[in-house]
Amino acid sequence: MSNCILITGGSGYIGSHTIIELFNKGFEVVSVDNQSNSSVNAYENVKKITGKEVKSYSVDLCNIDASRVIFKNHQFAGVIHFAAYKAVGESVEEPLKYYHNNIASLVNIIALSKEFGVRNLIFSSSCSVYGNVEKLPVDENTPRPKAESPYAYTKQIGEVMIQDFCKVNKDFNAIALRYFNPVGAHPSGLNGESPINKPNNLVPIITGVAIGKMAQLTVYGGDYPTRDGTCVRDYIHVSDIANAHVLAIDYLINSKNNTNYDVFNLGTGNGVSVLEAINAFEKISGQKLNYKIGPRREGDVIAVYSDSTKVYQALKWKCAHNIDSMMETAWKWEKNMAK
Ligand SMILES: NC(=O)c1ccc[n+]([C@@H]2O[C@H](COP(=O)([O-])OP(=O)(O)OC[C@H]3O[C@@H](n4cnc5c(N)ncnc54)[C@H](O)[C@@H]3O)[C@@H](O)[C@H]2O)c1
Repeated sequence: MSNCILITGGSGYIGSHTIIELFNKGFEVVSVDNQSNSSVNAYENVKKITGKEVKSYSVDLCNIDASRVIFKNHQFAGVIHFAAYKAVGESVEEPLKYYHNNIASLVNIIALSKEFGVRNLIFSSSCSVYGNVEKLPVDENTPRPKAESPYAYTKQIGEVMIQDFCKVNKDFNAIALRYFNPVGAHPSGLNGESPINKPNNLVPIITGVAIGKMAQLTVYGGDYPTRDGTCVRDYIHVSDIANAHVLAIDYLINSKNNTNYDVFNLGTGNGVSVLEAINAFEKISGQKLNYKIGPRREGDVIAVYSDSTKVYQALKWKCAHNIDSMMETAWKWEKNMAK
């Protein structure tokens, strides 16, 4: 039986870390990515860490014919679908770009899985599906209101599409993983986040300012009803996220699931404010960060952190990294990139 996993978005941040963990657990991997937000250098990083070459395709998943060739060439035990656009602010400015890319690529992945008899899918969802929640921590039964941004809406639609498909395709198994805020880098410092588009997430901006690539960090909003006025997030180390994917695909391949569609939160359960994250960085780096408090940003939710009991129980998954280790590995990666 094949143990080859198709990773979409494999030269991206979470995809490349997941390839490392899959290789470590003995899986074979094929990656597809159109490098719209990454570069093939990530495959070199994976090779430095694991000694293994990544088989890869540079293909846009919105192109079903080009994508079909990949399914023809390999027999997959499962697909982990990371490929998507992910900048919340940009999605507010350019909604169609997000609806087209994130929905069309997912439709194609599901259609091709059906066509080629690939029965296991892990989908990258996001805590943004919960929007501004009334009750914290957030568990999987928390109602999902109208999304705060087109990006978040693509994740809500993606989940519904997969669930509807699973209802009528009983031999197809899928898990949507709702990540909270992935940060940090591989502990070796040899792989990390390096988007080719402007970074929108907090930690690459923190380390980018500290190394001098950017002049100043703007904290979007200091007047939210939180303990220090800044937004609260559940930061989670990218290697912990990557490990959860290995456990999730293994769980489906080995039929440990008792329902053919399920959803799990992936978070640490700890809410950390933007200012607390900055303090953690300053502590581990011994460096003062140049930042200012700016206005709120459209599409941002105020506070969100997870109740991840369900995934701990089902996948026997645990987080190995705390906020200090997230900042330490991100900083190590940033300094390595500057060498
Ligand atoms: N990083 C986060 O904060 C976060 C949080 C929650 C959910 N997610 C989701 O996790 C997934 C991975 O995120 P990431 O942080 O690794 O992002 P990333 O941008 O680093 O990786 C996504 C990859 O997908 C590729 N891609 C995009 N559209 C494509 C297409 N049509 N065809 C082929 N490749 C395509 C990009 O080039 C990129 O390499 C995304 O679905 C994202 O929405 C990310």
